[in-house]
Amino acid sequence: MRTSTIVLALFLGGCNASDADALRDQLRDDDYRNTYMRAPGWEDGRLPAEGGPHGGFIDLYINDVMVEAIEQAEASGEALERWPDGSIIVKDGWDAAEGGTFEYLSFMERRDGGWFWGEYRGSGRLISAGKNDNTCVGCHSAGDDQVRAFGLPPY
Ligand code: HEC
Repeated sequence: MRTSTIVLALFLGGCNASDADALRDQLRDDDYRNTYMRAPGWEDGRLPAEGGPHGGFIDLYINDVMVEAIEQAEASGEALERWPDGSIIVKDGWDAAEGGTFEYLSFMERRDGGWFWGEYRGSGRLISAGKNDNTCVGCHSAGDDQVRAFGLPPY
């Protein structure tokens, strides 16, 4: 590998990490656990995961951009083909339904027609982050618009 390629790879890796940190801080500032809606079909808290690597029990939240897109699709009956830019899904992963340990914070944000992905361990250590991150897309491409836990509206 040429030095310039290595420098570019380090630079991009650093950008992804700081982008992910910025989004994580924004979500905390938003107090997502109290202000975001629960994702469709995940209205009850800490449901067992559906086989993902994100903890045995999960809470799923969506931001107002997604709530509006769902409301519009429900009202018009027109099928949404992809989630709009600005959509955010946040997932808390726990090891037990009650009194468990927080294991993972994962999120995806729609940016310029693709998803920006980020995942941290409960300890705060970054696992992986980036736009169209290969670590995440491999599994997630099986879902509608790369979302595994719920489909596109109307429901
Ligand atoms: C081995 C397959 C697999 C990999 C790899 C994976 N996921 Fe997932 N993910 C799932 C499944 C399955 C779900 C559905 C809920 C569950 O079972 O946890 C999910 C759910 C999610 C959700 C909730 C929204 C949705 O799409 O359902 C987010 C956010 C998420 N994953 C983020 C990530 C991030 C970030 C990465 C990469 C660091 C990643 N995932 C890698 C399988 C995977």
